[in-house]
Amino acid sequence: MWGIELNRRSELPLWRQIYQSLRDRTINGKLKAGEALPSTRELAKELNVSRNSVCQAYDMLVAEGFVISRQGAPTRVAEGLCVERLSGSVTYENIEPVRTFAADFRTGRPDLRQFPRFLWQQMLHKTSGEIQLERYGYTGPQGLPELRKEISSWLFRNRGLTADPQDVFITAGATHALHLIADLLCVEGRKVLMEDPCHTGMLRTFHNKGCPIIPIPVDEQGLQTEYLTSEGTACIVYVTPSHQFPLGGILPASRRASLIRFARENEVYIVEDGYDSEFRYCGEPIMPLHSMDPQRVIYVGTFSKALFPALRIGYVILPRQLQKQWRDLRTYADVQNPPFEQAALAELLRTRKFDRYIQKMRRIYGERRRVLLESLNQTFGSGWCAYGDAAGLHLTVKFPGMRFDDAFRKNCLESGISITPVEHHCIQKERHLNKLLIGYGHLEPEEIRNSIRLLYNFINSSYAVTG
Ligand SMILES: Cc1ncc(COP(=O)(O)O)c(C=O)c1O
Repeated sequence: MWGIELNRRSELPLWRQIYQSLRDRTINGKLKAGEALPSTRELAKELNVSRNSVCQAYDMLVAEGFVISRQGAPTRVAEGLCVERLSGSVTYENIEPVRTFAADFRTGRPDLRQFPRFLWQQMLHKTSGEIQLERYGYTGPQGLPELRKEISSWLFRNRGLTADPQDVFITAGATHALHLIADLLCVEGRKVLMEDPCHTGMLRTFHNKGCPIIPIPVDEQGLQTEYLTSEGTACIVYVTPSHQFPLGGILPASRRASLIRFARENEVYIVEDGYDSEFRYCGEPIMPLHSMDPQRVIYVGTFSKALFPALRIGYVILPRQLQKQWRDLRTYADVQNPPFEQAALAELLRTRKFDRYIQKMRRIYGERRRVLLESLNQTFGSGWCAYGDAAGLHLTVKFPGMRFDDAFRKNCLESGISITPVEHHCIQKERHLNKLLIGYGHLEPEEIRNSIRLLYNFINSSYAVTG
């Protein structure tokens, strides 16, 4: 009857099913303008439902203007409702199924199996219970004061960085921070100077914002500052000076000084991404560039590597002159971070349980790095060399004479090996073709050994060494 098929087991109430069927039929033109609907009594009888359900459906159709009801006259379909259906169906693109790999060398992955879930649940439980009711309201775009205070004191005791909690702004991770930074600074076509190679995610964040990119080459020590160029049109230099992503260099003091001079002379901001600065295995954490000029350097930090990526908490230390605009931007973008995870993280930091976890993970990751180097030695012999500082969750390895491009990456994937050539992160191609990135932080020693063997077999069977 009237194309209405009711499903009495559905969670959708009967009145809503009637309403939706009639509404759809007016939109797709099956019910024409001016056509009369049956009386509520008639339709209720036909459908074997209460008259109340039909009345409710008709009232909704009247309220939304799909039908017109007049006293003493039948309810009729309104004018101008029919919308043609667009031809062709829209398909979902690029949805990558969750895959497991025989050898998983993806970068930037902390070992979630080590994460103290119970402790984290306790922190969440405790702080959610204690949180004041006003924290359920709008708590401001800068983040909870106790978290900003704890981050500031962690940065001081861990890296010697002095930052006033007033200058710390909580974000939903480093990627989010870069979005806001781009909105703040990349105006009127001003350019972003990026390390090349750099993290494709960070590059795309700026690129998606429409920022023109100028690649600046990187060597074993990091950004090659002699190539910095601006002609007055740049607004940002993006750098990872403590552990260059992906090559792993530590930016030397002289290059740090020239970078700061360049930024001052050209009035550009340096965006310092300290993405994995907690994990250094030979010596103390590197002092951030930020300390050289807190008014020129925007320091970006994240808890994605130290804790877990889905936490989505990061922060920026922002020069004073940008703070008002930042507050404005954030308020009218996504407003703020939720307070519960912020409060739990503040508690983890305050009780120093965070410090102990980082210490433990530093030992574990350091040991895994050692196992990786040993496995490479045992399987590949002397045909490789490691790049960069002993830090982070991945190792960059150079295989002289080899060529690792996108085709190599795809072939590896087909064989169940997920590995990224440095080339994948290059803006200007063909300069780092013989280097691979081996993410190891998330792998147990035995998984590292087995995975390196698989990689060796794959390379040996598919790729002849060319010189
Ligand atoms: C260099 C670098 N910066 C930032 C990020 C992203 O951090 P977040 O998860 O906080 O957005 C990554 C992620 O792997 C990274 O490698």
